[in-house]
Amino acid sequence: MQIRRWHAHASLEALQEDAAAKILQSAEKSIRERSVFRIVLAGGNTPKSLYEKLAQADADWPSWEIYFGDERCLPPSHAERNSKMALDSWLAHVPIPEQRIHAIPAELGPSEGAARYSQTLKAAGEFDLVLLGLGEDGHTASLFPGKTWEDQDAFAVFDAPKPPPERISLSASRLSFSRQVFFLVSGESKKQAVADWRSEKPIPASIIAPPSGVDIFIESMLLG
Ligand code: 6PG
Repeated sequence: MQIRRWHAHASLEALQEDAAAKILQSAEKSIRERSVFRIVLAGGNTPKSLYEKLAQADADWPSWEIYFGDERCLPPSHAERNSKMALDSWLAHVPIPEQRIHAIPAELGPSEGAARYSQTLKAAGEFDLVLLGLGEDGHTASLFPGKTWEDQDAFAVFDAPKPPPERISLSASRLSFSRQVFFLVSGESKKQAVADWRSEKPIPASIIAPPSGVDIFIESMLLG
């Protein structure tokens, strides 16, 4: 059963401000308690301006360790890569050591890339914070409805309905192995998925169930 806390905001800007502040607080706490902050980044458009805000923030960047929740199987420099978006909007502008940025090697193709990233994740242990988005059909990371998901830490996706079809995704259980999980949800087109989620219809986003529950940062118009 997924424990949910909804944080509604009148605008996308306010949502991103709040989420950025909570991410920075989470990082401070983790670094104070464990000397490291392991965060998993979401792809898609919603987090982009949030990442731009984080690029301006003052934080103990060398103690951050970056992972990704899913990736599109494209060359590393392709504009549609989630890692490229995160680098351009944020990571290239702060002093996180390069070896602490663990991009998914999706350029190797779904199977090889997933096998390699599963190895990387074995060494990572529990995440401190996982960021996720929500798709119009209720997908999150690259867990799409109606598909079978393998239970390796990272698995290959060949037929995603959202382009490109070839992707690599962390599994629901690996995404749930985290002290905190934040969903970032914006855009009118998500209305039905949010209604399904709230009425307990089974959508992929509802199976992410860390023991501490999930925090959902959402535009208030989607709750109406
Ligand atoms: C991706 C994703 C995906 C995304 C949602 C929401 O690679 O496409 O990681 O799960 O987070 O589709 O995307 P938007 O924020 O663009 O609506």
